[in-house]
Amino acid sequence: MRRLVGETTIRPRQLILPMFVSEEADAAGAPKPISSMPGVVQHTRDSLRAAAAKAVEAGVGGLMLFGVPSTRDAVGSGGTDDDGILNVALRDLRSDLGDTTVLMADTCLDEFTDHGHCGVLDDEGRVDNDATLERYADMALAQARAGAHWLGPSGMMDGQVGAIRRALDDGGFGDVGVLAYSAKYASAFYGPFREAVDSQLQGDRNAYQQDPANVREASREIELDLAEGADAIMVKPALSYLDVIRAASEVSSVPVAAYNISGEYAMIEGAAANGWVDRERTILEVLTSIRRAGADMILTYWAAEAATWLD
Ligand code: PBG
Repeated sequence: MRRLVGETTIRPRQLILPMFVSEEADAAGAPKPISSMPGVVQHTRDSLRAAAAKAVEAGVGGLMLFGVPSTRDAVGSGGTDDDGILNVALRDLRSDLGDTTVLMADTCLDEFTDHGHCGVLDDEGRVDNDATLERYADMALAQARAGAHWLGPSGMMDGQVGAIRRALDDGGFGDVGVLAYSAKYASAFYGPFREAVDSQLQGDRNAYQQDPANVREASREIELDLAEGADAIMVKPALSYLDVIRAASEVSSVPVAAYNISGEYAMIEGAAANGWVDRERTILEVLTSIRRAGADMILTYWAAEAATWLD
């Protein structure tokens, strides 16, 4: 009876797997475990190709790639360099996978900057929004040349979707889409991700990410991103923000994604490792809740594994 009347479904095609590729791990010839995210690694180019193929085989709808460079500078040069680790890995995956999955790239500078901020800094050490947009435009073009189908600007700069859209259109990449991180909160749950990308950040991102206390500004960010040409929008994190996902799904005229982030992953893996929760049931309950709240797509580190359960 439950099977007959269940309202919410999850299909593998609705899941997007975030993956990390590291220049250092690649040089060392072995993937490097991320201690705060048991089961997730910083990949080498080869191990990334193998894991991506497996995820696609399991039916995931997309892959979101993050690059971890071995050297960083103030402007995040590694992100715009055609030979930078992220762009090289995108080229590998696009040549292996073609159009069998939606290949996505994180369009943000924080992995590549030596100060760890998502943008470039002004003379007083503050993030310079408009100077950053120029860097994002260059980064977008490098990622489009490397074969990304969708770009995921995660830096929360004002005007980032419009700047990237214009650069893509002017560069002849009109068919490359933009998944806008519209409502991205300044969250403590990003902790494990900072380890995953060897983040250099001191301090916080409160000057550009949203206050967890607010929901109204999420609607405003969504409206702006839609006006700037977003093809899909995102709410992040997911679990403490199910109400925001609901609100977003009510106002958005494009598909809504939610990012089930690193700290949400770590909490459940930690509890499951201690035998405190049933791992598989908990994961499926979480993914179902995010879908029920209104997300069309979910970015989750469990995407490949959960896809095999769902099939
Ligand atoms: C920034 C970025 C972050 C995440 C994705 N993109 C971290 C941050 O904003 O500090 C977090 C993802 C996660 O925690 O799983 N490029």
